[in-house]
Amino acid sequence: MPQLKTPLIAPSILSADFARMGEEVEAVVRDGADWLHLDVMDGHFVPNMTFGPGMIAALRNRTDKPFDVHLMIEPADAFIDAFAKAGADHIHVHVENNPHVHRTLQHIRALGKKPGIAICPGTPPETIEYLLDLVDVILVMTVNPGFGGQKFLDSQVPKIRRLREMADASGRDIRIGVDGGIDLATAPLATGAGADMMVAGTSIYGQDDYAAAITSLRQAGSLS
Ligand code: DX5
Ligand code: ZN
Repeated sequence: MPQLKTPLIAPSILSADFARMGEEVEAVVRDGADWLHLDVMDGHFVPNMTFGPGMIAALRNRTDKPFDVHLMIEPADAFIDAFAKAGADHIHVHVENNPHVHRTLQHIRALGKKPGIAICPGTPPETIEYLLDLVDVILVMTVNPGFGGQKFLDSQVPKIRRLREMADASGRDIRIGVDGGIDLATAPLATGAGADMMVAGTSIYGQDDYAAAITSLRQAGSLS
């Protein structure tokens, strides 16, 4: 079994103070964030709306850390170039809302960005089997996408394990991220099953001390 990497922490700005977003980004970077997770929602694919490429472009000069952009929009294809131009480093698209997601992932790669595939709780892991040669990250939704502050779905732990097996079997260097309900109690479940990146909104931005929250989350997710 390949050696596991140190789990990365990607605070989700969905739970940050939207009126002070620039400072909120700088704060988590100062306090130890590895990536910034940016949730783009359209009120159509998911029942909530957030922001678009304009926000991402506005935040881009606040940090050099990778922008991990999670597109929960349908259709996504028409907007990939705009998010790339805005400063996304990783672009995650969902497998559930695009019959030609294979082509979309190729396009993200052609733009010089890292393609990621996001997979909802009800979607079987085998759905992405023939996309593994194209992606750098698998984003396993451990809640139904749309809102922060939801409860981690334990049913997804075997799926994380299965996807880790599939990713390792591909022979490619693929990170497995978990997104939704990650806190001190659920982080070890996720990393124990093979996740090596954790998105966290409430358990970081919902706390008073971001540095302590990031440090303790990283510790909770570290495998001894
Ligand atoms: C949910 C988003 C998540 C969200 C997670 O649809 O994709 O990134 O911010 O929030 P928490 O960590 O609060 O569950
Ligand atoms: Zn997300």
